Amino acid sequence: MYLSRFLSIHALWVTVSSVMQPYPLVWGHYDLCKTQIYTEEGKVWDYMACQPESTDMTKYLKVKLDPPDITCGDPPETFCAMGNPYMCNNECDASTPELAHPPELMFDFEGRHPSTFWQSATWKEYPKPLQVNITLSWSKTIELTDNIVITFESGRPDQMILEKSLDYGRTWQPYQYYATDCLDAFHMDPKSVKDLSQHTVLEIICTEEYSTGYTTNSKIIHFEIKDRFAFFAGPRLRNMASLYGQLDTTKKLRDFFTVTDLRIRLLRPAVGEIFVDELHLARYFYAISDIKVRGRCKCNLHATVCVYDNSKLTCECEHNTTGPDCGKCKKNYQGRPWSPGSYLPIPKGTANTCIPSISSIGNCECFGHSNRCSYIDLLNTVICVSCKHNTRGQHCELCRLGYFRNASAQLDDENVCIECYCNPLGSIHDRCNGSGFCECKTGTTGPKCDECLPGNSWHYGCQPNVCDNELLHCQNGGTCHNNVRCLCPAAYTGILCEKLRCEEAGSCGSDSGQGAPPHGSPALLLLLTTLLGTASPLVF
Ligand SMILES: *[C@@H]1O[C@H](CO)[C@@H](O)[C@H](O)[C@H]1NC(C)=O
Ligand SMILES: *[C@@H]1O[C@H](CO)[C@@H](O)[C@H](O)[C@H]1NC(C)=O
Ligand SMILES: *[C@@H]1O[C@H](CO)[C@@H](O)[C@H](O)[C@H]1NC(C)=O
Ligand SMILES: *[C@@H]1O[C@H](CO)[C@@H](O)[C@H](O)[C@H]1NC(C)=O
Repeated sequence: MYLSRFLSIHALWVTVSSVMQPYPLVWGHYDLCKTQIYTEEGKVWDYMACQPESTDMTKYLKVKLDPPDITCGDPPETFCAMGNPYMCNNECDASTPELAHPPELMFDFEGRHPSTFWQSATWKEYPKPLQVNITLSWSKTIELTDNIVITFESGRPDQMILEKSLDYGRTWQPYQYYATDCLDAFHMDPKSVKDLSQHTVLEIICTEEYSTGYTTNSKIIHFEIKDRFAFFAGPRLRNMASLYGQLDTTKKLRDFFTVTDLRIRLLRPAVGEIFVDELHLARYFYAISDIKVRGRCKCNLHATVCVYDNSKLTCECEHNTTGPDCGKCKKNYQGRPWSPGSYLPIPKGTANTCIPSISSIGNCECFGHSNRCSYIDLLNTVICVSCKHNTRGQHCELCRLGYFRNASAQLDDENVCIECYCNPLGSIHDRCNGSGFCECKTGTTGPKCDECLPGNSWHYGCQPNVCDNELLHCQNGGTCHNNVRCLCPAAYTGILCEKLRCEEAGSCGSDSGQGAPPHGSPALLLLLTTLLGTASPLVF
């Protein structure tokens, strides 16, 4: 009872059919997936591990019997009272509601007397074994939180196996064997759960505790969940944190308490004596008045609400997870691998929320230019590491500086980035714009800055023309070489050969006449040319 109280305060359980939502009396741990908190940045969401409330899972199961026609009453038959072979006037008749014992009666409310129960046909085909499989299916993984309890109205079977499936009934494993004589029935030594320990808790045992036929008063068979929890949480399950810690770190332990289906294999009815009373076979049959299964939807600690809709249980996933068990990240939230929420650190747990993948550009991560991503906690984002093929950016979606986007290549193409090849002498830097155009120095042009504008000539980059034989003439018989300099006669110097060498050396006086300019002062002429802005009046 302690356990169920403990678990029932955890969360709210909502079924679509019920308008009223049963709110827990106290908010315990793992009953909230998120909460708003105030930080320096204002109100933000704080996420934590969460799970649905533990509840009566028999409301959500489908039951199947094998053989299908094993329920009594079709045709009607009489059977004997439990334990009294001479009181054989009880009747089972499937067509009369008061005398019918359909399987639903195993899951109805048991408050009344006499209790209602499912009942099998009697063992009239003895010695052929009377065997029945009762399969309970949820079509959903559920976690058991309390003992499975089966109440027999006809005496507890001599031999029975409780089995479980974790894969919707494809494969089955025994959960526990029950027999009046384990060695004889299953070649197993009888054990009790109390013989187990933390280290052997996953052992599958055969127990004789519940199979003493109808000679004792007890009608009940348990599969002991709480005793197994107690190995971790203490005898009164006070230390659930310790159990949760174990469940977090031991998948096998988690799986042990997880099922999608249960199967009760009834192998031999209660006989109560060593020999079968062949004269009164109507004494032997199975009758079950109640099956209790408490548990919760397995939502991987990513949901507090499990919805029953269209005969299906589904977790209402939070933390940007999805799937019936919240077992994967939502589309566009695959920024890091999915993982279940964690009970640790106790007491609020860790949500392990799914984070956005490659925001605006879709899902293709690094476009094949990197195979390594790194999560930046501070920014809550993921970036590609070491982008190749001259790419850069959070998702390798940009070109490195000095490269530009190849318009005819897809983002994931190795050739997506083309080198700018800016002429180092003609451009300001080595970067170019989106169509490959570089930024040119003055006087320079062309996409790669390797051409000169008019009035400029290439000489370690574009230089303004010095001479061009049209506007800028070399003087004193000088000739224009590649527009960048005048080749002057020996007596002259200066950019336009406008100066006498002797003037520069200050030695003209002593050597007058020789090398004198033929027409007036060259300095004056240069000034005139510049001022008029016209062709030089000089004629060569
Ligand atoms: C019960 O299930 C077991 C395992 O699948 C199978 O071998 C057996 O025949 C079934 N019994 C009946 C009565 O259907
Ligand atoms: C899921 O993603 C949305 C959109 O980014 C965000 O607003 C929301 O808070 C996320 N939820 C969780 C639980 O992380
Ligand atoms: C641009 O991409 C196309 C397609 O991959 C490729 O064929 C072409 O060579 C690339 N151009 C350059 C200049 O790399
Ligand atoms: C790059 O620069 C050239 C020359 O200025 C211009 O024509 C072109 O449109 C620019 N391309 C882009 C993508 O900005």
